[in-house]
Amino acid sequence: NATLLFLGRTIVRAQALLGDPAAKLFDMSPSRDPYPAYEAVRARGTLVKSRMGLYLTASHELCLDLLRDPDFGTLPAGALSPVDSDAYVDGRRLVNPVEESFLVRNPPDHTRLRRLVAPWFTPKGLRAQAATVERVVDEYLDDAARKSTFDLVGDFAARVPIQVIADLLGVPGADHQAFARWGSALVNALDGVRDMGEMRALHRGLREFEAFLDDLVEHRRESPGDDIVSALVAHDDLSREDLIATTELLLVAGFETTVNLIGNAVLAVLAHPQVRARLVEDPTYADAVVEETLRLDPPVQYTVRVPFKSTRVAGTWIPKGTPIMLMLAAANRDPAVFADPHRFDPGRADGREHLAFSSGIHYCLGAGLARMEAAAALRGLFGRFPDLRAAGRVRRRPSRVIRGAARFPVHAGTTKH
Ligand code: HEM
Repeated sequence: NATLLFLGRTIVRAQALLGDPAAKLFDMSPSRDPYPAYEAVRARGTLVKSRMGLYLTASHELCLDLLRDPDFGTLPAGALSPVDSDAYVDGRRLVNPVEESFLVRNPPDHTRLRRLVAPWFTPKGLRAQAATVERVVDEYLDDAARKSTFDLVGDFAARVPIQVIADLLGVPGADHQAFARWGSALVNALDGVRDMGEMRALHRGLREFEAFLDDLVEHRRESPGDDIVSALVAHDDLSREDLIATTELLLVAGFETTVNLIGNAVLAVLAHPQVRARLVEDPTYADAVVEETLRLDPPVQYTVRVPFKSTRVAGTWIPKGTPIMLMLAAANRDPAVFADPHRFDPGRADGREHLAFSSGIHYCLGAGLARMEAAAALRGLFGRFPDLRAAGRVRRRPSRVIRGAARFPVHAGTTKH
């Protein structure tokens, strides 16, 4: 495995040196600024084939078309996840948190499973969450206010969404910490594993997480509440695998993405003094700042779609099952849609055309919740600490799919109550 990885990297590096834009993207350190590499892909055309044989697009129009095309679907099993499709631990098959969830399933299974949890994410469902979100933000800011310097990610941004999802799922308060650890481990695993040791550790972790979820399911069967897991156990026809994969999906999809949205928004605000001044004066401006962060620096950088049958895409014949990488973060800077696309301009007229939450049937189910959490975080943070400033180097997450800060030290400055 290590030899194969080494060979792979050497080939990619050689192709990058030969000027292949896709190879450049995969050769550079995942924590570096990827946006110039996206522009190199855009300069090559609407649909670009790299020397590695990978198809990519930075075009907003093409991304949107393929995301909404019923003849395109998500990747087939086995292609996406570092977890084996058929992994066994202690003689029991593991539920694959990526491939068995509705994020990567196609209709009719996708429709059936998404429908079960959708009610929690409607405007009415969200209003029920609003008070929890405000309370959690306030609690963690109280903690942060006791220190003059804190880690914006570890001490604040990472804590808010996990509490909210744990509440939604019906995880008892005492288990929130353990739940947060599983969340990070699962999301990190999405970036791939480096060797067999990491793979085995990941499988063991997943096994333990499944045991945790089996206990949660039992607990909610005996004492149901108005949470998602209680509602799922009430469906007798839902298999254990579907129940676990759906629960894991909500944790994976709703956790680090939101953490990174909060971090990326604060980075943008600190880099734009006039935006900060307006935010401090007018807390309702937080919504526009969040929206523009989603466009310019989205937490999920790309997704993949494959055609169910051979077809022509942007003039090129694409055989059935060939993956096409849809670079959502690049589409969000497409000059055909966005005026002055690289400029951070909250409230811009074309701002909501972005694809940060994807489009079509897989459009992010938690988009409203993520917007609400990030806006509440910004309002709380700059309302409480109007002089908030960076207190050291930001460490980026080592990921190409998920973009954000892993560590972001800040000085609180003057505190307002
Ligand atoms: C799907 C982004 C927060 C739940 C997606 C997709 C994207 C995305 C791009 C679609 C991927 C594709 O089309 O292949 C984000 C971002 C977030 C965020 C940027 C935060 C800033 C959340 C939250 C939740 C959530 C808070 C729930 C608690 C989901 C679910 C799906 C999804 C369940 C799968 C939808 C489906 O396949 O039908 N998200 N997400 N997300 N997201 Fe989010």
